[in-house]
Amino acid sequence: MIPPKQVQEILDATRIEEVVEDFVTLKRRGVNMIGLCPFHGERTPSFNVNPARNIFKCFGCGKAGDAITFLKEHENLTYPEALRWLARKYNIEIQEVERSPEQMAEAQLADSLYIVNDFGLQHFQKQLFETDEGKSVALSYFRKRGLREETIRAFGLGYAPDERDLLLRKAKSAGHNLELLKKVGLCSQDGSRDFFRARVMFAIHNLSGKVAAFAGRTMSSEKTVPKYVNSPETEIYVKNKILYGAFQAKKAIRQLDECLLVEGYMDVISLHQAGIENVVASSGTSLTEGQLDAIRRNTKNLKILYDSDSAGIKAALRGLDLALEQDLNVKICLLPKGHDPDSYVQEFGSEAFTKYISENATDFIFFKTNLGLEETKGDPYKRDGLEKDIVGSIARIPDPMKRGLFIRECSALLQVREDALYDAVEKLIKNTIKKKEEKVVRQPGAASDSRPPSEWSDWPSNVPPSDSSDWPESVPQLSLKAKAGAEFQERDIVRLLILYGQHVLPEENITVGEYLLTDIEESLGDFDNPLYGKIAVECHAMLVQGKVFDQHYFIQHESGEVANLAIDLLAEPWEFSPNWEVMWNYPLQNQPMPEHNFTLDMRQALDRFKLQKVQKMCALNLTRVQTASKSGDHEAMMRFMKIQQKLNETRNEIALRAGTVVLVK
Ligand code: CTP
Ligand code: MN
Repeated sequence: MIPPKQVQEILDATRIEEVVEDFVTLKRRGVNMIGLCPFHGERTPSFNVNPARNIFKCFGCGKAGDAITFLKEHENLTYPEALRWLARKYNIEIQEVERSPEQMAEAQLADSLYIVNDFGLQHFQKQLFETDEGKSVALSYFRKRGLREETIRAFGLGYAPDERDLLLRKAKSAGHNLELLKKVGLCSQDGSRDFFRARVMFAIHNLSGKVAAFAGRTMSSEKTVPKYVNSPETEIYVKNKILYGAFQAKKAIRQLDECLLVEGYMDVISLHQAGIENVVASSGTSLTEGQLDAIRRNTKNLKILYDSDSAGIKAALRGLDLALEQDLNVKICLLPKGHDPDSYVQEFGSEAFTKYISENATDFIFFKTNLGLEETKGDPYKRDGLEKDIVGSIARIPDPMKRGLFIRECSALLQVREDALYDAVEKLIKNTIKKKEEKVVRQPGAASDSRPPSEWSDWPSNVPPSDSSDWPESVPQLSLKAKAGAEFQERDIVRLLILYGQHVLPEENITVGEYLLTDIEESLGDFDNPLYGKIAVECHAMLVQGKVFDQHYFIQHESGEVANLAIDLLAEPWEFSPNWEVMWNYPLQNQPMPEHNFTLDMRQALDRFKLQKVQKMCALNLTRVQTASKSGDHEAMMRFMKIQQKLNETRNEIALRAGTVVLVK
């Protein structure tokens, strides 16, 4: 392991242009350097390197990142390998920390489990291809199911004959350790007999193609025999992280930028054989977060195929909200009655299959809405539940534009007013962030002196309940554009945090991160965009814990979503089109370098952020005034009017400072 201090030393020494120039010829153009992109074929250069920011971005194919990303992608290196590469280049001698005895033992255990499994694979394959029984019983079974020999080999299929301890004896005489055989589940726990008997065997590979586990399918159609038996979980087989077929599908998923998810092992194998290779299975369980992560690293587009009689569709759909949260585009496709992907493609061929799914795949949220509408026909109580359910799903989509589109479509499907749906979604987003925020340890007494008026503190309890049965009557409708604008203010804050979070402000002698976060501490739970909110909250938590967050931290962030955002933000000044300001109706502050005019950039971002929040409060409070006035509650009306006055004052003050014109109503 490379000690963290040396990692920092390596990163500090690294110049992006020097790394890239080992592979690409660059020419200077202004502050940037430009060349032909090594990641896609092109004749005119659109590959940009920004030495000041230490990042690259290709405007042709969109690839972007820092030197580590470049080496990972271009040289196919892992993170530690990329660090070592850089250390060599910059003559930094790495003093590797010895792995602890526990870590060594762990790595050794994993290695030996793979070795035993590999023995298992060889054994099952030998039984399948080289014995008379294997050929007549198992190979003919696979053939009957339409599999060709190359497919059978590619997927590591095999055969376990109906013998008490054949594998066990062979393993022992080959010198394998009994405890390890027990551990991977190739034999019974008392070590007396084989675990898999009278079954055709499926090897389950990990992402790098090593055998992590096995599944055995009975060839008998007797209902009393379990159809599949599986290896137990071990250090190398963590069920909820492994997707069946991922090793064989990886390349195709990246190339086609889409992943098909099916239910069964046979579905994966049949489709692959038919030339549809971007397919994996979750092995009969519903999708887990770990599996979604694995998919998301390769594509954002997920198409899930279910048998139409599949028992668990409804339960499965619930699990899919997780996928929305990760910004995946999820489509659902039901196969015709009586078919699964395997039987369909075997009967009708790959062309018909591809055509069928492209015609029948429906966006997950619409699918769920339609399914729900059918089920809740004529039952207003259930109907209410459906609306909440849909609101819950839409609220998880991080991209505000995408949310907007779904809201529009679903409001038509559900016959609910679009603005009502908007508000319900917004409210839910806010509450969720607030709840998450409450979990983060707060630094006592760190609030800034620009606290909002004290009346604000009792606001949350006044907010009408977020029940969908209780749609607020007259909440002012913000247009999509204004909403997107609100997100822009938040993006601005996050941009500063990511780009200059560690930069020390000369006058204040604190970092930008500290300055920004203490200033908006009160609003951390009020972000409209969940992703930006998440980052702000995370930064705040790190600050409280005294941890460092810098560009590198975000570019290599474990969440791909955050990493992508970091790159986008770093690359942004190259990308703004001249009509950006017109489009968003906000003056932009994008200096080429932080050193210039840096403090101003930050203050303006803060002002724009606060202004947007105050404007929202103004609008909300105004409806309270109106409601109170309508219901004749004079006392309440006066109270709200007073708040309104303070809000307006605050708003005008900020607006004046920010140089933004606000229409005062
Ligand atoms: N499964 C399992 N144990 C079972 C039944 C199913 O682990 N007793 C898992 C397997 O991963 C299986 C998947 O659920 O692949 C889907 O089940 P099913 O559709 O019944 O299996 P297929 O793989 O389609 O098998 P076949 O086509 O041979 O019936
Ligand atoms: Mn099947």
